[in-house]
Amino acid sequence: MSEPDLELVKLRKVYPGGTVAVEGFDLRVERGEFISFVGPSGCGKTTSLRMIAGLEDISAGDLLIRGRNFTKVPAEKRPTATIFQNYALFPHMSVRQNIAFGLEVAGKPAPEVKAKVDAMIDTLELGNVAHQSERNLSGGQKQRVALARGLVTEPDILLLDEPLGALDANLRKSIQEELKLLQRNLGITFVFVTHAQSEALSMGDRVVVMNQGRVEQISAPFELYTRPQSHFVARFIGRNTIIDGTLVDFSAAKAVVSTRFGPLSGVPGFNAASAAPGSPAAIVIPSEYVDITPQGSSAHGDEFDAVSGEVTALDAVGQVVYVTVRLDDALEVRIESYRTRIEGRDIAPGTRVDLKWRRERATVVPGT
Ligand SMILES: Nc1ncnc2c1ncn2[C@@H]1O[C@H](COP(=O)(O)OP(=O)(O)O)[C@@H](O)[C@H]1O
Ligand SMILES: [Mg+2]
Repeated sequence: MSEPDLELVKLRKVYPGGTVAVEGFDLRVERGEFISFVGPSGCGKTTSLRMIAGLEDISAGDLLIRGRNFTKVPAEKRPTATIFQNYALFPHMSVRQNIAFGLEVAGKPAPEVKAKVDAMIDTLELGNVAHQSERNLSGGQKQRVALARGLVTEPDILLLDEPLGALDANLRKSIQEELKLLQRNLGITFVFVTHAQSEALSMGDRVVVMNQGRVEQISAPFELYTRPQSHFVARFIGRNTIIDGTLVDFSAAKAVVSTRFGPLSGVPGFNAASAAPGSPAAIVIPSEYVDITPQGSSAHGDEFDAVSGEVTALDAVGQVVYVTVRLDDALEVRIESYRTRIEGRDIAPGTRVDLKWRRERATVVPGT
């Protein structure tokens, strides 16, 4: 394996008041990777990013960039640049001056500053506003200036803290695509913080899911979506049907959970050391793998599990249909299906249905 661009080793942050904001954060990021940090407000995303940037002291653990230990190196000596949600541009300076600022402070010679600023203005298509003040720019333009200002210093790693949070939904979507393209073309490592799971999954090559200062899971988006490793991730990412129970037995390939619907099984989403027979566990099925049929209308073989219930609502949004089903233990689940998949199946509120899925599609996670 090549040397990682960024490495966090048991990173920990305790604020002066005693709040443990980040605990035991281990991560290796390859060069040119786009990594997202996602989790609910207060889970430690910003604190982690600020420790990488050098804007916050590291209480314990190590931070390495391209193999060199930067744990105690001040922010201005780190090969990182940070983009904040509020852009933090200088209002009394033109776009051009804003972009040049970092290089000038670093004492770079004027011809070099000019060449690099010109190139960055070009890359981010800011030519027509280069001499305007920040006050006259749209949200999207401000965002591009903030990016230019960060990238012009040629950081090894660009850190972005909810950089699109202030933009409206349409603009956000288009800047997401722009940002991803820019990152690919530049080949720079991006660490991108967001509280929006859809954004984390669509942008990240890998996603770090955080909860209460700890890492819950680090996976590629599809893996995170289809194979959650904890109850928290199963609830936070995607749209899963979650059935709680007690772990009966497990091997590397298969775990069995005793539930109110009888024994159900799936692929273990935990390592053997972190679960024991008799402990709480849940079966998690991504809703796209759940098939809905009128009760008893289709036989299913050994490779399937099924539970039954009654449809309480159908909500169609374009091709997607959300089917709410009250299972026989009164648990309500909402399944995301497609019009084409349930059409002609006689499914309406009041219909008794079977929900069935391939066991290999289900994941067993520990806890409740
Ligand atoms: N400067 C600070 N002093 C004390 N506690 C802080 C400070 N900044 C953040 N915290 C606390 O640390 C925890 C993590 O916060 P933060 O990293 O901002 O989370 P996120 O960015 O995921 O919303 C929270 O409990 C928050 O209240
Ligand atoms: Mg934050």
